[in-house]
Amino acid sequence: MVNWLKINTRCPSSFIFGKSSSNWRNFPDEVINFSGSRNGSHPRTFITLLFGTVLGFMFATLISSTTMRQPWMPESYRQREPPTIVSDPHTGNELRGASGPEQDVGQHAAHEEAHAHENASLANQLKREVRILCWVMTNPNNHKSKALHVKRTWASRCNKMLFMSSVEDPLIDSIALPVSEGRNNLWAKTKEAFKYIYQHHLDDADWFMKADDDTYVIVENLRYMLYSYSPSHPIYFGCRFKPYVKQGYMSGGAGYVLSKEAVKRFVEDAIPNPLCRQDEDGAEDVEMGRCMEAVKVLAGDSRDSVGRGRFFPFVPEHHLIPNHVDKDFWYLKYTYYKPDEGLECCSDNAISFHYVSPNQMYVLDYLIYHLRPYGIVGHSQPLPKKFSLGDIVRVDDLGKTTPKPSNPQQRRNRHSNLRDQATNEIQKDVTYSHIEAKEPNT
Ligand SMILES: *[C@@H]1O[C@H](CO)[C@@H](O)[C@H](O)[C@H]1NC(C)=O
Repeated sequence: MVNWLKINTRCPSSFIFGKSSSNWRNFPDEVINFSGSRNGSHPRTFITLLFGTVLGFMFATLISSTTMRQPWMPESYRQREPPTIVSDPHTGNELRGASGPEQDVGQHAAHEEAHAHENASLANQLKREVRILCWVMTNPNNHKSKALHVKRTWASRCNKMLFMSSVEDPLIDSIALPVSEGRNNLWAKTKEAFKYIYQHHLDDADWFMKADDDTYVIVENLRYMLYSYSPSHPIYFGCRFKPYVKQGYMSGGAGYVLSKEAVKRFVEDAIPNPLCRQDEDGAEDVEMGRCMEAVKVLAGDSRDSVGRGRFFPFVPEHHLIPNHVDKDFWYLKYTYYKPDEGLECCSDNAISFHYVSPNQMYVLDYLIYHLRPYGIVGHSQPLPKKFSLGDIVRVDDLGKTTPKPSNPQQRRNRHSNLRDQATNEIQKDVTYSHIEAKEPNT
């Protein structure tokens, strides 16, 4: 180090700082005078030290700049670092924070490539027969950042789409409900939203789907599931959780869908009913579940014919990857039906995923509606059988209706995914005590 300093201090100052640097020439004189008056050391020694310090600093800066980010880079350049991975298992992906694209990503033309060979006649038929009004819970902060990306992706597949907010905004045609904003007002907003729908749009649809502005819905699969049921059945579907409400309740984030009869009961009977929470507080989905039970709207089983789920409170990754979430994760304790691991988790006709970032809405749209493995051509499964009310409810679930009780023969004839409530209760208890006994606390 000493040799290094000596060698470099022998270089003329102009070599390093340039001949025109008059400031530099003045600077050492002051230092020399100052140091000289202090301890009387030789000026040249001090210059050597100063040069050494300055050059050492420059050298260190040079080395560190090759291993760390460059502090002199423009801000826009520095931001090109890989995004930090978010490890919270329930929010999940690193794109969650990314804002969606400014411009619409566009569409492929129907006559292009794979689309020219698609046959959507069955989906179109269901769009006429199983009419769905979707409504999205949003707020003024999310109109542009989230709701707009719902509007540009899955919204148009609903028969009608309403964005429920507290402010009218032409960007998303939002509706200004008479509520104040905030997480504590979600319950109030839900009640107002269904009142608005009841007053203005009850005849525009058969089913009424609530989703968040970060929920992605595959509307065709929703119609396929609902095809078996009648809008006059008092029933609703979603991702079923088991605590708080006897028959369970539907996760708010995964979205839930009410039959027309359920909407009527909710607005006419539940909202004025003291069994139903009257103020604006409370968890929206739990309160909804309590109200539904209070007016005898059945919590439906939305699993497919082989028992795989269709409504999901997280992104696909979280359900698909075995052991992705901790065994103690609340979801595994909340879920009404024991979730299977790996591909068994998820129906090929899945309906919804939650915590989908704005960018991921477009990615899912691409994967679901565009990307095709060449040479594999699917035919839609045949339409499922339609159920009568007697097929789906037990006598003590019937509330306002008075159909006959189901007998063992009818039960045997039931569609395999429609296990009756009693069986579910027993299965649930068995499977959960089984899990809790087997799994160590981690
Ligand atoms: C499209 O599918 C329907 C049945 O889903 C069938 O009846 C119809 O013939 C098909 N159209 C074409 C052009 O293949």
